[in-house]
Amino acid sequence: MQHFKFDVLVVGAGGAGLRSALQLSDAGLNVAVLSKVFPTRSHTVAAQGGVAAALGNVTEDKWIWHMYDTIKGSDYLGDQDAIEYMCKSAADAIYELEHYGMPFDRNSDGKIYQRPFGGMTKNFGESAMSRTCAVADRTGHAMLHTLYQRNVKNNTQFFIEWSTLDLIKTKDDEVLGVIAYEMATGQLAIFQAKKTIFATGGAGRIFEASTNAYINTGDGLGMAARANIPLEDMEFWQFHPTGIAGAGVLVTEGCRGEGGYLENSDGERFMERYAPNAKDLASRDVVSRAIATEIKNGKGVGKNKNAVYLQLAHLGEDKINEKLPGIREIAIKFANADPIKDPIPVVPTVHYMMGGIPTNLHGQVRKNDSGDRVENFYAVGECACVSVHGANRLGSNSLLDLIVFGRAAGLHVIDSIDQKAKYPDIPKEAVEFTQQRVASLNTQSKDSENIVQLGNDLRSTMQQHCGVFRFPELLKEGVKKIHDIAERSERLQISDTSNVFNTARIDALELKNLIEVAKATIESAHAREESRGAHCRSDFEDRNDEQWLKHTLYYSQTNTIGYRPVNLKPLTVETFPLKKRVY
Ligand code: FUM
Repeated sequence: MQHFKFDVLVVGAGGAGLRSALQLSDAGLNVAVLSKVFPTRSHTVAAQGGVAAALGNVTEDKWIWHMYDTIKGSDYLGDQDAIEYMCKSAADAIYELEHYGMPFDRNSDGKIYQRPFGGMTKNFGESAMSRTCAVADRTGHAMLHTLYQRNVKNNTQFFIEWSTLDLIKTKDDEVLGVIAYEMATGQLAIFQAKKTIFATGGAGRIFEASTNAYINTGDGLGMAARANIPLEDMEFWQFHPTGIAGAGVLVTEGCRGEGGYLENSDGERFMERYAPNAKDLASRDVVSRAIATEIKNGKGVGKNKNAVYLQLAHLGEDKINEKLPGIREIAIKFANADPIKDPIPVVPTVHYMMGGIPTNLHGQVRKNDSGDRVENFYAVGECACVSVHGANRLGSNSLLDLIVFGRAAGLHVIDSIDQKAKYPDIPKEAVEFTQQRVASLNTQSKDSENIVQLGNDLRSTMQQHCGVFRFPELLKEGVKKIHDIAERSERLQISDTSNVFNTARIDALELKNLIEVAKATIESAHAREESRGAHCRSDFEDRNDEQWLKHTLYYSQTNTIGYRPVNLKPLTVETFPLKKRVY
């Protein structure tokens, strides 16, 4: 088996992975990035509306207002130390990207253009705030290409079309690297490193309707779960209010930021009833529930009355072409609607995983309820739960999270790495574990399970049992169904056992990761007996801070749940006290 050695290994080449790699290569470390797709095809490329930072380019802004909005948006589940760190670092992170060459849109005075986004306000909730820095509606695309090119300049080493399968972790909870699979040859290899950073992205493909790319299969979470590392706050999944009905493709919140609005079948701007102040720019959980309620009450549009309309035509052709050109193209292609004259049929669609691998604000992974760390292991970006988003993320805080915590992990690695230390021996069992996992897929048996069927069962179960609104009986049945799917996955089998670009084998290995994510999600959702942020239960309608102001930690190996207190203490400012959350 090939055995590579590096100072640092970064798994994943989206915004967070590339930002970490850049910090490390700038410091002269020998860094390798593993990615299952060409880096600029990572899912960050699909991010549209923008990246938040209190630059104050349109009206006065302060990072502490951004911090307040993020804490409120998180329904008070976000850790206030990490949120302060993120919001305070935001402006520098944006200027850094600007200096790297990211082509931000500009105001007439030449400053970076900023648009309003949901839940972003001035002066602690007074009025809407233009805080989201944008490159038209292709901000993630511009960010990803900028970061990739800087890494190319630094000679960061990329291993492209390598799928990472398992962590190598010792009995003493020290991570020594990973075992990865080369798609072109079907060979496994050991990637050993003094520090390993996971930036493996989200897992939205556990649901049927998702804005996520097909590559978002929760690989990092699956690897963590198999290595007995808990997954945090997995009950919190964000439904983006505006996915194109039927297709799931994202229609940016930037549309509403630019002045677009939602309408029901009566032509009513119904958000005025649900969020009298913020209206269409309330936070995503609020808007998604409003749309789902309108549809449930028979006010949906379209043949099956299962969508609402997003109106943009009043913005005019020039503004749509300048600020939302990608949306116009997407709407024409996927909804047969040209927004300069037609409304776009939209529906809440799974978009973002607030939970993930538990970390502190340096990206160091936590291994238990007490917050003890796994040695030499970091996680950043959507695969991580820092937690800055808590129970509900604000739009445009995700791209910010990637660059702020990608850099933070890089800085911590640089401070703590001992480049002269010897590489320890790799435990034999770690290698055998992965070899067996891969080989077992080739084993023919009578009761074998088919990847497509099992994947469809997984996605439809999650969609029906763990959606925008959550019902006790459905959750209970869902838990049973997902465990049944997990048990069936032990018998997953591929009929083509060839080695060269065997996509069936990759699909099967990814499906195992999705199942880990689904198990953590539905178990955590079933356990949390309150409604908070994106977790909305019909049997516990209110937030219950007395009992549930805590992070969930799901342990797959023992199928048990633990909890960790929310950090309500910021780094330098006063705690933001708990309040009822209204928009
Ligand atoms: O609506 C959007 O453009 C998505 C942004 C985000 O999820 O942060």
